[in-house]
Amino acid sequence: MTAHPALVPLPRSVAVIEGDPFRLTAQTPVIADPDAAAAARRILSTATAQTLALPAEASPSSPALTLSHTSDIAPPGAYRLVAADTGVEISAAGAEGLAAGLHTLAQLLTPTSEGWRVPAVRIDDAPRFAYRGLMLDVARHFFPVADVRAIIDRAASLKLTHLHLHLTDDQGWRLQLRAHPALTDAASGSAIGGGPGGFYTQEDYRDIVAYAAARHITVVPEIDLPGHTHAVGLAYPHLAADPVVTPELVAEAAGRGEALPAAGAPYTGLGVGFSSLRLDEEATFDFVADVLGELAHLTPGPYLHLGGDEAFGTAADEYDAFLSRVTQLVADLGKVPVTWHDAGRADVAPETVGQYWGLTTPDAAGADAALAFVRRASGVILSPADAVYLDMKYDDDTPRGLTWAGGPTSVRRAYEWDPVSVIDGIADDDIVGVEAAVWTETIDDLAGLDAMMFPRLAAAAEAAWSAPLGSTPERSWESFRRRVGGLGPLWRRQEIVFHPDRQIAWTGE
Ligand code: ACM
Repeated sequence: MTAHPALVPLPRSVAVIEGDPFRLTAQTPVIADPDAAAAARRILSTATAQTLALPAEASPSSPALTLSHTSDIAPPGAYRLVAADTGVEISAAGAEGLAAGLHTLAQLLTPTSEGWRVPAVRIDDAPRFAYRGLMLDVARHFFPVADVRAIIDRAASLKLTHLHLHLTDDQGWRLQLRAHPALTDAASGSAIGGGPGGFYTQEDYRDIVAYAAARHITVVPEIDLPGHTHAVGLAYPHLAADPVVTPELVAEAAGRGEALPAAGAPYTGLGVGFSSLRLDEEATFDFVADVLGELAHLTPGPYLHLGGDEAFGTAADEYDAFLSRVTQLVADLGKVPVTWHDAGRADVAPETVGQYWGLTTPDAAGADAALAFVRRASGVILSPADAVYLDMKYDDDTPRGLTWAGGPTSVRRAYEWDPVSVIDGIADDDIVGVEAAVWTETIDDLAGLDAMMFPRLAAAAEAAWSAPLGSTPERSWESFRRRVGGLGPLWRRQEIVFHPDRQIAWTGE
C-alpha cells in the first residue's frame, strides 16, 4: 500500500483501492444538482488556481465527477468519496457533506502534464464534533470584509462550521447598530498601537453572514460584557465605570511604553481587565437589551456570545447578577447564549454554553467553572489557550505573537491534545465542539493572520473533526507532520501565507 494521502483533518477511514488514478481537467463533466455543481467549480478552481469549467454535460467517453445525495450518510458533514480512473463519486446526505467531500478532493489533487491526478481511493468520513470553530478578534485590530471572507474560505477548507467574531473590546466597537449609532460614530476609530480601526455596517455584517452561510459556516457574534467595554464609554460615558488601574497594569504599561486607560479617551494598549459597564445603573440593562435585541435580529445563527471573561473591574455580586439576567435575556430572544467559562460560577440561563479558555492542564477554578456548564447539561466549547490560541508565538523567533498562554506554542503542542482529556469528568457528549482563537493584539493584516493560523489551524481542525488522538496510528503527531506538510502546495495555490515551520515535513511541488 502506498503512503496515506496528505489529508487534514484525518478522515475516519481511507482505503487505497485497486485502479489507476483519476485525471481531473477543466473539461471533466460534473453530474450534480446546480448548487453542488457550483460548489465543485468554486472549490476546485480555488484549489487548482485555475478556472475549471467542469461542464454539466456528461459524455460517455469522459470520466465524470458525480455528486449525489444519499440519506443513509450521517451526521451533517459526513460523506463518502470513491475515486478511480473511471470517475470520482462523492455522496452525502446534504450540501454540507458534499462540500466536505469536495474539500477532501481538493487535498487529493496533484498537478501533472495531463491534468490533476487523484489517487484511486475510498474514503468514508464523518466529524467527531458538530461545532468546529474559529474565533477572529476584529476589535484589537480591525479587518475589512475582504479579509473576513478570505478567513471564511480558509476555515471552510478545513471543514470548520462556525466563525466567532469578537466584535467589541476595550480598543473599539466594530458593528454598526441602528439604535445606537454613537457606538460606531464615537468608538470604532481606534485600535491597538493607534491604528485607524473601523467597523462593519449592517450591510457588511449581512454580507459576512451570507458569505459564510454559503460555505456552511455559521457566524457567532460576540459582544464582550461586562468587562472589555472601555470603548462603550467613548459613546456613552454614563454607562462605563472608571478604569480600574492596578499596580500590575501600571507596571505592564510602563514596560510596553503605553499610556494607561483613561475615561473618555480611546485605549490603544494591550492591558486587560480594567474596564466595566456600570451595573448599578438600570440604564445599562436597557442599553444591553437594545444591543443584544438588534444583534439577535441581524443574526440568523442560533448563538449569541456575551463574553464574560476577565471582568476584574466588576464587583463579584454585580457580575453574577448581570450574567444571570443577560443570559436569560438572550434565551428569551430565542438564541443560545455562549459565555467564556468565567461565567460558569454565575447562575446563568440553563441553556448557556460555556467556552473554556484555560490551559490543557486546568487549574481547579477553571475546571470547576467549565464543569458548571456540563452540570446544567448545556455543554462546553473547548479552546484551551496553550493549544489553540493561534496568536501565541511558535517559538522565540516568531516576529508576531504573545506568550502569556503558556507559550510559545509549537505546532506539535497545538496538535498533541485531545478534547476529552482536558477537564476531568467531561465526556464527548458534554463537548459541543472545539474552537481555535486568533486574538489580534500583534496582528493587523491577512498575511499576519495566515502566518499565525497556518499550520496550527489544521491541528485544531483535526482535534474537532477526527477520531481521538492516539486512537489510530495515523492520528498521531508523526502522521500529522507529514500529512500537513503535504498541503504546502495547495496552500500556496490558495495564496495562504503559512508559517514554514521547521517541525513540519513540507513537500515541494
Ligand atoms: C480570553 O482569552 N480572555 C477569553
